[in-house]
Parts: sequence; C-alpha cells; structure tokens
Amino acid sequence: MNICVIGAGYVGLITSLGFAKHGNKVICVEKDIEKVEKLNKGIPTIFEENLEELLNECLISNHIFFTKDIHHAVKSSDVIFIAVGTPEMDNWDVNISQVTEVVNQISYYLNEYKVIVNKSTVPVGTQKYVEKLLLENGISRDKFDIISNPEFLREGKAVHDFLNGDRIVVGYDSEKSKEIMEKLYEPFNIKLVFTQPEAAELIKYASNAFLATKISFINEIANLCNKVGADVETVAYAMGLDKRISPEFMKAGIGFGGSCFPKDTKALVRIGEKNGCDFKIVRSAIEVNEEQRLVPVRILLEKFKELKGKAMTILGLTFKSGTNDIRESPSLFIIKELLRHGAIIKAYDSKASNEIKSIFPDITYCNNIIDSLVDSHCVIICTDWEEFSALDLSVLEEKMKSPIVIDGRNVLSLEEVKKYNLEYYSIGRGNYIN
Ligand SMILES: NC(=O)c1ccc[n+]([C@@H]2O[C@H](COP(=O)([O-])OP(=O)(O)OC[C@H]3O[C@@H](n4cnc5c(N)ncnc54)[C@H](O)[C@@H]3O)[C@@H](O)[C@H]2O)c1
Repeated sequence: MNICVIGAGYVGLITSLGFAKHGNKVICVEKDIEKVEKLNKGIPTIFEENLEELLNECLISNHIFFTKDIHHAVKSSDVIFIAVGTPEMDNWDVNISQVTEVVNQISYYLNEYKVIVNKSTVPVGTQKYVEKLLLENGISRDKFDIISNPEFLREGKAVHDFLNGDRIVVGYDSEKSKEIMEKLYEPFNIKLVFTQPEAAELIKYASNAFLATKISFINEIANLCNKVGADVETVAYAMGLDKRISPEFMKAGIGFGGSCFPKDTKALVRIGEKNGCDFKIVRSAIEVNEEQRLVPVRILLEKFKELKGKAMTILGLTFKSGTNDIRESPSLFIIKELLRHGAIIKAYDSKASNEIKSIFPDITYCNNIIDSLVDSHCVIICTDWEEFSALDLSVLEEKMKSPIVIDGRNVLSLEEVKKYNLEYYSIGRGNYIN
C-alpha cells in the first residue's frame, strides 16, 4: 500500500519504518528539515535499539522516503497516518493544535478516497472532531474515512514493540476503512481489536493510566518497605508471581516520566471531569509520582540541612534507559529543586538529547562518570542505564568528597554496596551506612 505518515518523531518514525519493513511504500512528512535530511541519509534522529539498521534497510530497499512536502505525500497515498505531538496544557487539557494543523493541511490534497488514521494520543471525541473539520473544509464525506489507531510502543523498545505489539486497536466507523486496516496490519500477525472510535481513544488513556498507577502503587509500597525493613524487590517479585498482578511495571524508583504517562494520566483526569467522572485513583497516582521524584532531595535535606554550595552528581538524565528522551524525566525535577536550594550540579548521561542544555545552561555536563564524581558530596542515580549498574564502586570512595549514593532506580547490587565505605540510600531496599 502507499502510505503517508505525518510527523517523524518517536511514533511517526517507527510507524513509518514498521510499515516500510512490511513492503509498503511509505512517505514520511516532517516539518523539521534537519530531521528530514538526516533521516534520508540514514542517520537516526532519536536513540532506539535497532533503529539505525531498520532505517538503512528501508532506505536501501526504497520503501521509505522523508520529505517536507505534504502535497505529494498525501496525493500519492491510500492511507494517511497522523503522528504529531499532543502536549498537555497548563489545565491538563490536551493540546491538539498540531492535529488540527495537519488536518487543515491535508484537506487541500484529498483528491480521492483516503483513510486518515490518527496515531497520536488524542482525547475521546477527536475522531468526530476531525470528521467535522474535514467537512467544514469542504471535503465531501465519500472522500475519506477516519480511523483511531492509538500507539502503545514503549520508548527504548519502540522498534520491537511496533513490530511485535500485544494488540493493535482500531476504532472505525465504516466497513471499507476496517478492511483496509485489516489488510495493512495482516503481515504483523498481531491481535487486532476493532471497536468504536471513542473506545479506541479511551483504551490508550486507560492503559497508560493503569500502568502509571501500578508504578505509583509499588513506589508507595517501597516507601513503606524502607520504614519497616522489608525489601521491595522481594515484595514485588512475590506479588508479580500472581498472574493476575504480573511482574511488569513493579519496579520501585523515583517515579515515572516521559512524554506519555505524565500527560496521559492528567488528560484522563480532565476527560473524566468534562464527563462528570472524578478519577480519584489516577489523581492520586499523579500526586504520588510528583512526590516520589523528589525523594532524593528530601533525603539530602534531612542529611545536610543546607544544600547551598554542595556539589551533587546526577547520573542519568533520560526518563529511562534505552532512549535519549528527557521529556518529564524525574532528573529534571530533581536538578531544578537542587538548584533552588543552591546546590552545584554535575551531570552525566551518554545519550540524553541536547535539549537538556537549553533547560539547564548553568550546570556542568560531564563526558564520563568519573569526571562527574570528582569532589562530589552525593551521587544520585536517576536512570537505569546498564553503565551505572556496572559501576566500579571503589571509584566512589576514591573520587567523591563524601561517598553518598542515592540509588533512585535500585540498580546497584546490594552485595557490592556492602563491600565499600559508602552511605547508600535506595528506594525500598533499605539504606546502608557502612
Ligand atoms: N513517544 C512515545 O513513546 C509515544 C508512545 C505512544 C503514543 N505516543 C503519542 O504519539 C504522538 C506523537 O508522539 P511523539 O513522541 O512521536 O512526538 P514527537 O514530538 O517526538 O514527534 C512529533 C513530530 O511531528 C512533527 N510535526 C508536527 N507537526 C507537523 C506537521 N504539521 N507536519 C509535519 N510534521 C509535523 C514534529 O516536528 C515532530 O518531529 C503523541 O500524541 C504521543 O502522545 C507517543
């Protein structure tokens, strides 16, 4: 099939490559010309496992092309995917202005029947909104159908998840568009769930809010574990053996971040409010998370009382390992709070996007772990990169002013920690002052 994907971000790029890999002709439209140029040269614009290989495979086989020119892309495609950003607004509403812009743009080029697929995460009712917009733009109803096809990939495993997802959700309102989606997804051999557009839109928010709640739940258990001397990993492991609970999303830490959970939980609360439903559980999951990401700062304030002039090392800036994405990363909130208390920050992350430098222009970015540790009063591990779990802990004793470790992701081996002269704080695995 001829496919057009609009937006070459985390979702649009992976979606384009996934369809290209399965033999479709894909044109991916991106308004950022720098991204277009890089991608056409085979240079990935984001860090993701197996992305570079897949990008080059699809470029060589001539199944993908990146462009700024939406005109040709829309005209020559049977199916148009919208994969642009839907950021949150200050009142927790979802800003769908990028979707509106794309719909207005494609309205000019709907020369014959096309299926317009919304892959962005959008509030319930957006499918109807897009239909209304197209009709208002003078497009006759027989020239399009709209599908809601939310994306469930995880950053860090995005390529794998797109090609091997647990399910594909398709909200549809015409048999013709349903059949086209069935054909398009057939080679993926993934369970397809066909439903109403409103249900498809809601499934995405409900899934993310559920997972976010699971994380906040285990984080509260972890905080209790630290008080009562229980080990959260054992608690989570034994809970997870119950198939109804499952071991997934049961890792305690300094909370969730990224471009999805924080905004999608808030969006669900707002969607509920607008429909007379108060999402008390999701509200609490958000509140727990906002407190959890500042646990390291609370530990430090308790210990030092005064953080002014104290040197702090932040290991890990991305919201999780396997990605360069820093959006809503707990480390950003920790850095902001430490700076507010007058601490001096040195940070290290080999993959974090450069954008961080514009957020915190005045902190020191180190090129390796060792440099970041020299003369530091404390190191806070904020991301579960393997490089940190494999750290030789003798270096902490040698290089730091005071070898205090706050392991915000529980990545260090407790057996190793106990061998060194460290002051070690974990999230629910106990604290060790050796
Ligand atoms: N990132 C994830 O893990 C993930 C997972 C599932 C769903 N989602 C959802 O998918 C959507 C996209 O997320 P993302 O992380 O890929 O966003 P992103 O910000 O990384 O990418 C969006 C891209 O769209 C481009 N764009 C915006 N308007 C455009 C236009 N008019 N023409 C061409 N290009 C345009 C931007 O330049 C950008 O490159 C969001 O709704 C998000 O909630 C994201």
